[in-house]
Amino acid sequence: MRLFVAAELSEDLVDALSETSARLRSCVRGRYVGPDLFHVTLAFLGERPGTEVPRLADALEQVCAGQKAFSTTLGPLGTFGRKGSAVLWQGFAEGGSAWQELARSVQDALAPLGYKPEHTRFVPPVTLMRRADMAHGTLPMPCVEKGLVNTVTLFSSDLSGERPRYEALFRVELGAATSCGK
Ligand code: 2AM
Repeated sequence: MRLFVAAELSEDLVDALSETSARLRSCVRGRYVGPDLFHVTLAFLGERPGTEVPRLADALEQVCAGQKAFSTTLGPLGTFGRKGSAVLWQGFAEGGSAWQELARSVQDALAPLGYKPEHTRFVPPVTLMRRADMAHGTLPMPCVEKGLVNTVTLFSSDLSGERPRYEALFRVELGAATSCGK
């Protein structure tokens, strides 16, 4: 299974990201990510045997019980990659240290299970578009909104189809652990 751990965003943040995405759609050509797929990857685990899922879920449950939900504010747009086929994302203007703390804690908790923590400063982007043609477009003003980050989810990702398909295998609320499908 291809696995990753991500923060999911509150409805007000998803609505604002959808609005940014709609503005982008009128300016830039590319493959848009649907609002149901918006997330911030905290740890990319890659190919793992499905038998590891319960242990990963336990580690996430434990670490997230010690983490608090936090408020964050959307920020500017940015790009990765080539001009003709870029990844286009929206970042966050506030909540920086809380994002660092969450990503570091989650990555450290997964280290005993074979995850290699990234020692660079964590920059939380939400991917809005792939294969964006930035050679022929200009970026619009993003929609900026404040909202809560209160859920961390273990996802599986299936890239065999036209669009990536993510399935939530285990969901934990920050501060108060609840589970689904463990
Ligand atoms: P992306 O949105 O920029 O493609 C599932 O694929 C999630 O993990 C996506 O958020 C994806 O980022 C991210 N991801 C994919 N491959 C990765 C890698 N090698 N390192 C870190 N994150 C990765």
